[in-house]
Amino acid sequence: MIKACVIGYPIKHSRSPLIHNHWLRELGIHGSYERREVPPNALEDFLTHLPVEGLVGCNVTLPHKETACRYIAHLDDRARLTGSINTVYLRQGETWATSTDGEGFAENILWRMPGYRFGGNTATVLGAGGSSRAIIDELLRRGMRQIFLANRTMEKAEAIAGVFGRDVVPLPLSDLDTCFPETNLLVNTTSAGIANDARLHVPFARLHKGAIVADVNYVPLITPFLCDAQACGYPVVTGLGMLLHQAVTGFSLWFGQRPKVTEDLHTMIARDINPGYQP
Ligand SMILES: NC(=O)c1ccc[n+]([C@@H]2O[C@H](COP(=O)([O-])OP(=O)(O)OC[C@H]3O[C@@H](n4cnc5c(N)ncnc54)[C@H](OP(=O)(O)O)[C@@H]3O)[C@@H](O)[C@H]2O)c1
Repeated sequence: MIKACVIGYPIKHSRSPLIHNHWLRELGIHGSYERREVPPNALEDFLTHLPVEGLVGCNVTLPHKETACRYIAHLDDRARLTGSINTVYLRQGETWATSTDGEGFAENILWRMPGYRFGGNTATVLGAGGSSRAIIDELLRRGMRQIFLANRTMEKAEAIAGVFGRDVVPLPLSDLDTCFPETNLLVNTTSAGIANDARLHVPFARLHKGAIVADVNYVPLITPFLCDAQACGYPVVTGLGMLLHQAVTGFSLWFGQRPKVTEDLHTMIARDINPGYQP
């Protein structure tokens, strides 16, 4: 029996077991994937004893994505550049870790908007936390020409721009008018309106008419931000597909087969979020 899990604190909200156990069943793999609640003071012990626990690896979620980096023997270049991890796996008994959030975001855009080209285009990313860093890294790897990075706390946007260089331009959230006319991919990575009551005020009327609008949040499936974008006529991409696509690499590292993200899986998780969901 091959065993993996997701760790976080708290962890009972995680939908990752639904995703991985669906793939285990579908592919006929004798394995299991469960939730493990790991408080911050137990994180080091857990990550340095994965083989003792009988685990081949784990996903890492809030609040451990950044601190977990300290307890991993080898970080790949994505993890080093973003300073955050979500996937841990074993190689010759040693821990390795990566971040698959950026890949999950980009693959979801291509899943929902086939034919979209990252190369040579301009994105605006709202928010300068962990998911923002992972997405910026991935967009640059895929050839995005320029990324405007808007955040409430300017210093955080400046720090990220400092890591990625001149292709990333930091600006205040109040200054979106300047970059919107040339933005053809707009991404919300803030938790405004999700983790708190604050709703982002976004000048959609200034946004390039051919732009795609995406959110990394997925509860509710159509977030207040996506609702505003739809009302202004923009095609939207929800964050649920990112959650599904970011899980693919972890599954293949642990269980040895690359699973597929399907509409059936999407519908199953969407109904777990909103029982009345209709595809
Ligand atoms: N779909 C997926 O697979 C996936 C993957 C990863 C994360 N997520 C979701 O993405 C969201 C962000 O995650 P994260 O790890 O990047 O979070 P994070 O590191 O805590 O960053 C949160 C960002 O939101 C901004 N923010 C919070 N409240 C705000 C407000 N009222 N007005 C304006 N900006 C506000 C923060 O701005 P300041 O810097 O000014 O504080 C910060 O830039 C979470 O809800 C998470 O669940 C989804």
